[in-house]
Amino acid sequence: MLVILKRDAAEISRQAAQLVASAIRRKPALALGLATGGTMVAVYQELVRLHKAGSLDFSRVVTFNLDEYLGLPAAHPQSFHHFMQQNLFAHVNINPHNVHIPDGTVRGDYDHYCKSYEDAICQAGGIDLQLLGIGRNGHIGFNEPTSSLGSRTRLKVLNQETIDDNAKFFAPGEESPRCAITMGIGSILEARKILLLATGASKAAAVAKSIEGPVTSAVPASALQLHPEVTFVIDDPAAAQLTQRDYYLRVLQMTALLTPDRLS
Ligand code: PGA
Repeated sequence: MLVILKRDAAEISRQAAQLVASAIRRKPALALGLATGGTMVAVYQELVRLHKAGSLDFSRVVTFNLDEYLGLPAAHPQSFHHFMQQNLFAHVNINPHNVHIPDGTVRGDYDHYCKSYEDAICQAGGIDLQLLGIGRNGHIGFNEPTSSLGSRTRLKVLNQETIDDNAKFFAPGEESPRCAITMGIGSILEARKILLLATGASKAAAVAKSIEGPVTSAVPASALQLHPEVTFVIDDPAAAQLTQRDYYLRVLQMTALLTPDRLS
């Protein structure tokens, strides 16, 4: 595990976009796992900037989003389909056939649909690089606390904290979704590389538990300790409860000296 500490959200998004861009330059047909949420907005802005500057080609990139609200059609302004379109896809040369986002309008045989989503990931050769945010409760994707660490893509009931966090994005009086389709923790752990971004003091407890606490389904992001190549990129407020900061900084210095590829 690599922990990259940055001053603020602006530095985080530049660093994250740079890591994603280098992965695409190394492998133009990268299978890229994408996340939504406020943390990702500036990362996508930076990727769009690099694309418009002519230095980043999405034409062969294949994407898989982590999750989608159940019941929201793609055109709903709070759907993750809409988020991705607004923040990234409409501004880069991605092939729409290469974009995969769970379908929030699926009905009936959820297991069959979720299995087909996993099959599409397999057919693409597995995810090369997975971007993740983290919830205040430690969720990744919509894997809420107590999600099985081996879970696969499935229908998931959201917990109240997540519903409350998201309610502000919905119109007054509009009920925010109670369920989602999400890749599982087991699905996420199969990505070859994982990049988790966290900004702001509200994430500090979840970040500390994920990096330094025990591996437990009570903190889904703690499962990332089981992954061989995960990088946390965290700003100062989100890193406030980490106890091993000096060590992470030393590891970073040595990584830059000995295996600089890991940081580019
Ligand atoms: P945020 O969401 O980026 O809006 O904080 C992250 C998450 O809940 O996964």
